[in-house]
Amino acid sequence: MKKILINFAHPAKSRSSVNKTLRKAVEGLEGVTLNDLYQAYPDFMIDIEREKQLSEEHDVIIFQYPLYWYSTPSIVKEWFDLVLEHDWAYGSKGNALKGKLFFQVISAGGDGASYQKEGFNEFSLKELSAPFRATAKLCKLVWLPPFAITGVHSGLPTAEILRHGESYRRTIIALRDERVDIEQAKLLELLNADLNQLIGSE
Ligand SMILES: Cc1cc2nc3c(=O)[nH]c(=O)nc-3n(C[C@H](O)[C@H](O)[C@H](O)COP(=O)(O)O)c2cc1C
Repeated sequence: MKKILINFAHPAKSRSSVNKTLRKAVEGLEGVTLNDLYQAYPDFMIDIEREKQLSEEHDVIIFQYPLYWYSTPSIVKEWFDLVLEHDWAYGSKGNALKGKLFFQVISAGGDGASYQKEGFNEFSLKELSAPFRATAKLCKLVWLPPFAITGVHSGLPTAEILRHGESYRRTIIALRDERVDIEQAKLLELLNADLNQLIGSE
C-alpha cells in the first residue's frame, strides 16, 4: 500500500466549493495524509524540517489548489523555494524524493475549451504544469499529468462537483492500492481524462 500526502493550498477555504468538496472526498482515507499549508502556516513561516519529513514518509506527493494566474497560490511557491533543498531534493546527494509519484490537483475558473491551443488561454493545463514537470525531473520524482476540474466560473452544478469528488477518491484509492499503470498515466492529457482507462477494473 502506498502512502499518499496531499499538500492542500487554498487561501480562502470558506469560499471554496470545488476544493472543499474534493478534500472532503479523500480526507480520512486510510493511507492518506492531508497537510493544509495555509492552516499550518498562516504567516508563511514554513517548517522546513516538518515538510521534509512528511515528504520522506510518503510515496505519493500531491499539491491540491485552485489555479491562480495560471500558476499556484503563493504558499505553494514558497514551499518549493524553501523545502526543496540542495543535497536533499536535488544534486548529486539529493535523493530524498527519488521515485516518489508527484502531481497536481487543480481547479480552474476557465472551461476545458479555453485551455487548448486554439482556445482563449492558448495553453493546455498539462502545458502550464511544465515547471512542476521540470522540477520533478530535477528532484528524481515521477511526474504525472494534473488531475483537473475546469469551468468553475460557469457555475458547476453541485452534482457535477460531487462527481469530481468521487473521481478524485477513486484515483487516490487506486494509486494507494497500486492499481494504476503509471507508464500509461504519464501519457494522458489529464489524469482524470478517462478514469476507466487509468484505473481499469476495481
Ligand atoms: C487570484 C485568483 C487568480 C485566479 N487565476 C485564475 C487563472 O489563471 N485561470 C483560471 O482558470 N482561473 C483562475 N482563477 C479562478 C479560480 O481558479 C477558481 O475560482 C477556483 O479554481 C475555484 O475553486 P474553489 O471553488 O475551490 O475556490 C483565479 C482566482 C483567483 C482568486
